Amino acid sequence: MDKIIVRGGNALKGKIPISGAKNSALTLIPCALLTDEPLTLRNLPRLADIDGFQHLMNQFGISTTVAGSRPEDFGRVMTLEATRITSNVAPYDLVRKMRASILVLGPMLARAGEATVSLPGGCAIGNRPIDLHLKALEAFGVEIEVAAGYVKAIAKKGIPGGTYTFPVVSVGATENALMAASLAKGTCVLHNAAREPEIVDLCNMLVAMGAQIEGIGTSDLIIQGKDRLHGATYRVMSDRIEAGSYACAAAITGGDVELVGAKASEMDATLDALRQAGVKVEDTGTGIRVASDGKLKPLTISTAPYPGFATDMQAQFMAMLCMADGASVLTETIFENRYMHVPELNRMGAHIETKGRTAIVHGVKKLTGAPVMATDLRASMSLVIAGLVAEGETHVSRLYHLDRGYERLEEKLQLVGADVERVGTE
Ligand code: EPZ
Repeated sequence: MDKIIVRGGNALKGKIPISGAKNSALTLIPCALLTDEPLTLRNLPRLADIDGFQHLMNQFGISTTVAGSRPEDFGRVMTLEATRITSNVAPYDLVRKMRASILVLGPMLARAGEATVSLPGGCAIGNRPIDLHLKALEAFGVEIEVAAGYVKAIAKKGIPGGTYTFPVVSVGATENALMAASLAKGTCVLHNAAREPEIVDLCNMLVAMGAQIEGIGTSDLIIQGKDRLHGATYRVMSDRIEAGSYACAAAITGGDVELVGAKASEMDATLDALRQAGVKVEDTGTGIRVASDGKLKPLTISTAPYPGFATDMQAQFMAMLCMADGASVLTETIFENRYMHVPELNRMGAHIETKGRTAIVHGVKKLTGAPVMATDLRASMSLVIAGLVAEGETHVSRLYHLDRGYERLEEKLQLVGADVERVGTE
């Protein structure tokens, strides 16, 4: 079990290359099921979840070849070819390790007429139900059976089509519905669909594969189903959450960092919040420059579906705001248990009180390095961010959480002068 040792005190200076977006890649990869032609994805991040998804696709008989990075990309190139599908079952032992596997349900159903996927179960931040995925598919005329821990979707004569209005915004359910609808017999309409940039990335790639989608980027999507889709070569968008995470690291250390490849237009809420905290933010055309003198103003933030403030940025901002000059109020409206980083940050000398969905972050003069434990992906990054400014050493363990979403984290931080190292422990 590895751990990362962070020695605080260095202001981060320089350029950090931003990887391809994990949360886009995880919905683009299963789209290979929608065609018997090769689908080539560029700028794929090297992450545990991507490797897991590649393995899952191989289970279905899909060939995958991985090449190195193109000069203009930080990530790898992967070509997936689903000429024939040898299995339409996503088994429990694979799904339990990577809940995003549920995103094979829609495309596998659309291609094979039937799909069986183990129910993903909950995770650290919440019980993460998939009822909306299933309701949207049922609205499109799909038969759904749930039994023995598996969900089975059936549409032997193809997906008829229909209309569904999401009661709450769901990124994954929107993605499953979109992928299924792209090969439907009729027209599928989604209202109150998610509008995250990763959804736009998915729509753009589906269109490149021959799909017909109206309303891309809005919460009303109209998809005219096609008989077949063709292959494509598509570059995964840059990771706006990774970029926002490093922006918080630059801000808390009083640094000056360019996030190379990050797209400001996908990060308005994050960049506005940084500016309100007194951080200088500039769109450089090739990325985003984030500079701070280390003096941070407190904020009041509520997470919300895009274009609101991303729940995936909450933990990282909380770490940064531990050093603000005053008390900040954070409200987590999306997940019911996304404050597990709070006790770990408090062990480093932070002063954070939580009550239900709200956290009060009282700014403190200093944080002190400590052995801390990662509990989930974004929580683990918040501990690294705190460690970058804490006095002494912070040892972050359970790095398998971090490795799911941050490619070569210690290398990227070392590029800008952070004193961090990864050590293997017995
Ligand atoms: C995606 O998860 C992301 N993961 C999450 O990122 C992100 O936090 C989340 O969207 C919100 O932006 C990937 O893209 C792989 P949701 P997803 O469906 O699709 C409830 C990270 O750190 N809900 O938008 O699972 C759900 O419980 C991860 O990178 C239902 O009730 O999120 C939650 O309260 C963490 N029924 C809310 O909706 C459903 O059928 C939003 O969930 C589905 C969701």
